[in-house]
Amino acid sequence: MQQTVRIAPSILSADFARLGEEVQAVDKAGADWIHIDVMDGHFVPNITIGPDIIRALRPHSDLPFDVHLMISPVDPYLAAFSQAGSDILTVHAESGAHLHRTVQQIKALGKKAGVALNPGTPPQAIQPLLGELDLVLVMTVNPGFGGQSFIPSQVDKIKELRARIDASGRAIDLQVDGGINNSNAARAIAAGADVLVAGSATFAGGNYGENIAALRGVTNTMRNTRKGALPTAASED
Ligand code: DX5
Ligand code: ZN
Repeated sequence: MQQTVRIAPSILSADFARLGEEVQAVDKAGADWIHIDVMDGHFVPNITIGPDIIRALRPHSDLPFDVHLMISPVDPYLAAFSQAGSDILTVHAESGAHLHRTVQQIKALGKKAGVALNPGTPPQAIQPLLGELDLVLVMTVNPGFGGQSFIPSQVDKIKELRARIDASGRAIDLQVDGGINNSNAARAIAAGADVLVAGSATFAGGNYGENIAALRGVTNTMRNTRKGALPTAASED
C-alpha cells in the first residue's frame, strides 16, 4: 500500500563547504530523511562522499540517513557505510553480479535495504528480492549529477513497481530520485511513489522551508484530489 509521502532532500545540491550546517538546516526545514549520494567515478561519472563524511555528519541530525550508493563494487564498503551511521543502504541493481547477496549483507548489518533501478533497467529486476527489500528506488535521471531533467518514460515503471510492491503485501518504500520538482511530483505520486528525493528543488534559492513545504503542498493536494483528474505530462515543465 502506498504510504504517506516523505521528502528526502539530496545534499548533493548543498554547499559542501558547510555540509553540517546544511544538514541541520534541511532537518529544521521539515525534511523527513537526509538523502546522501555516494559516487565513485566508476559506476557513475562523478565522485562525491565517503563514509568518513557521513560519520562527520551524523551528529548534525537525528533524521534517517538514506544513503544512495552509486558505487561498484559495493559489497566491500557496506560495513563502513553502516558503521558511519547510515540507516538505509540503497545499492544499484546494475552494480554487481550478486544482488541478492548484497541485500543479505545489508540486512545482516541491521540496516534497511534498498535497490535502485537506472532508467534503462526494467522493473522485474527487483522481483526476486521483494521478500527482503525495504525500499525500491526508481531513478528518473541517469545517476551521476544533480540538476538534470526528469525522464517521463519512468512514470510507467513507477506504476508497475507500485503494483508489484502491493502484490508482495509488504510495506516497501517506493522512492523516486532525479529531477523531481513542484511540476512533476504529483505525477510521480499518482503513479505510486511515496518517497521523493529532491536536490535542486530543496536547495534552489536558499529558502529550504518554503521549498520543502511546496513539495509537501503537492502531496497534500494529491491526497485531497486522489480520485480527481491526475496531472498530465502536458502540465509539467
Ligand atoms: C543523481 C542523484 C540524485 C540527485 C537528485 O545521481 O542520485 O539524488 O542528487 O538531484 P536533483 O533533485 O537535483 O535531480
Ligand atoms: Zn540519489
